[in-house]
Amino acid sequence: MIRLDKFLCEMEIGTRSQVKELIKKGNVLVDGEVIKKADYKFEENVAKVFVNGKEISYQKYYYYMLHKPAGVVSATVDNHDKTVMELLKNAPGRDMFPVGRLDKDTEGLLLITNDGELSHNLLSPKKHIDKTYLVKTKKEITDSMISSLEKGVDIGEDHLTLPAKVKLIKEQVIELTITEGKFHQVKRMLKAVDNEVVYLKRLSMGSLTLDENLAPGEYRLLTKKEIEELK
Ligand code: URA
Repeated sequence: MIRLDKFLCEMEIGTRSQVKELIKKGNVLVDGEVIKKADYKFEENVAKVFVNGKEISYQKYYYYMLHKPAGVVSATVDNHDKTVMELLKNAPGRDMFPVGRLDKDTEGLLLITNDGELSHNLLSPKKHIDKTYLVKTKKEITDSMISSLEKGVDIGEDHLTLPAKVKLIKEQVIELTITEGKFHQVKRMLKAVDNEVVYLKRLSMGSLTLDENLAPGEYRLLTKKEIEELK
């Protein structure tokens, strides 16, 4: 159940005072009846709401794919740096946040949503969601580095990293798939094999793959299919 004025604000019909005015004037119908009380409560997923003759359907959750550029931080607020949320400041939705973090200098796929349950599931260490990164390195990537990364390396945690998948693209470029999300994990893994990351981009997370039509800084809504597959 939701209050009528809250519903209309959440659907971005106007500010609290603007929607109150619309309600008072009799411009809002719920299930065919003019409702003049702002605190009128109804079932938001069932009722049919019309404002000035136009149906307003309720959307609780929003899901965006952002191609994070380097130089912005994966936070909702930051005192020093531009945040990923500033890139989505004109995108419809509320209470949104990035699902997990990419380092300031990392580019690529970042999911932005207000669906806490989905976020929790994707980030849960128990779920071992695949994350694939394009990694460019300072030195050539040798066979022994690849087999160490595949087996698991010591990054100073209690356990070795879980086995990773490595696809050699070029001498100094790999696609690395990991199932954990430790702080700076990819950079620490390459350091553990005596190499160094010079460029990092996330290509996918679970079933979600970065849309190559999105330039760094651009975003789009997920499709219904993408949302269903992620869940
Ligand atoms: N691993 C890193 O080291 N940095 C990232 O941003 C993501 C994974």
